[in-house]
Amino acid sequence: MDFFATAAKGTEPAIRDELRELRFRGVRADRGGVHFTGALDEGFRACFELRCALRVLTELGSFDAPHEGALYEGVQGIDWTRFLDPSRTLAVRAACRSSALTHTQYIAQKTKDAVVDQLRQRHGARPSVDRDDPDVLIFVHLVRDRATVYLDLGGASLHRRGFRSMAGEAPLKETLAAALLRLSGWDRERPLVDPMCGSGTIAIEAALWARHIAPGLLATDGEERQFGFERWGCHDEAAARRMAEIREAARGRVRTSAPPILASDSDAAMVAFTRENARAAGVEVSVHKARVEDLGPTDPPGHVILNPPYNERLPGTRDLYRDMARALRRLHGHRVALLSGTPDIERAMEQRLPEPPAPRPRSLAVWNGDIECRLLTYDIP
Ligand SMILES: C[S@@+](CC[C@H](N)C(=O)[O-])C[C@H]1O[C@@H](n2cnc3c(N)ncnc32)[C@H](O)[C@@H]1O
Repeated sequence: MDFFATAAKGTEPAIRDELRELRFRGVRADRGGVHFTGALDEGFRACFELRCALRVLTELGSFDAPHEGALYEGVQGIDWTRFLDPSRTLAVRAACRSSALTHTQYIAQKTKDAVVDQLRQRHGARPSVDRDDPDVLIFVHLVRDRATVYLDLGGASLHRRGFRSMAGEAPLKETLAAALLRLSGWDRERPLVDPMCGSGTIAIEAALWARHIAPGLLATDGEERQFGFERWGCHDEAAARRMAEIREAARGRVRTSAPPILASDSDAAMVAFTRENARAAGVEVSVHKARVEDLGPTDPPGHVILNPPYNERLPGTRDLYRDMARALRRLHGHRVALLSGTPDIERAMEQRLPEPPAPRPRSLAVWNGDIECRLLTYDIP
């Protein structure tokens, strides 16, 4: 089967590397995600193990759809009875660009009609729609009048790991936090420091990665994490056994130790949130209240990664950036990675203060939702 692991823009290389390390086959990065191939089980494993992907989709068919009739016919040409029956629910999401059909809601509606009509013809009854929590989530993408139909294996965005019950004003998605750790080159050996931790997403993802705890192993209130494919019609006893094997193998890889993971924030509420979220994730993060301006070195020199405030909800000021840059530039021998949503942060790192300016960073464009950011990585001399 052909799979597509979707990515926040700019994080595709992180997912490509992850898929290769996890020994998936046919790995090929593309715009918006990474393709890979394998049996359906490999799709289950991807949902269970990938840290950086937002969704894992499997392609069911691709056909020309220059008008609604062709879209309907094409969708009817797919055998939906493997996944759906009248007792299950579905939802359809559509996206389109450069096509004659331009209304995504209409495309979704037509697709849904074709699916439910096929099931009514076969069973004499149709499945119903549940937009919020469907058993089967279908995506249809129309690009230059060519439709591609996908099923979402996870059923919900994979960033919802279940450990983050408490969050501040501008939390990162867990998948983006995991991608930033990879893209900034953390080796999982140096101490990891997030001095503006908010709800602790980066630090907790770091601890999970360092201990090889697969995201699929995270339980919420003692309940095992469930994925969308477990609610499909074809998820029979053999598939459930295969899932149990994937779970068991993942359990066997968990390590007990990790390098020190340190998180701090100037806001006491955030410190409490990070503590609670780390507890829910079952990992150790050393959390305390502190200002980034007072950040000191670790021994051995660590990997400092932070997501300073930069938008309307959490504004940053030039004074904060100047004082933050001054503290970061004193961390000789450390690597410092900043997710920056404003050029003011890079400028602050370059300012002539008593300390020498930071060397040129490695700079990657990464999107945090619809905000274009830079991931700036400095090796402080
Ligand atoms: C964008 S949020 C970080 C969000 C975090 N990455 C998450 O996923 O929840 C920025 C954080 O910086 C903290 N902050 C602001 N000024 C600070 C300072 N001077 N020292 C330390 N933390 C500060 C805020 O309290 C806020 O939690």
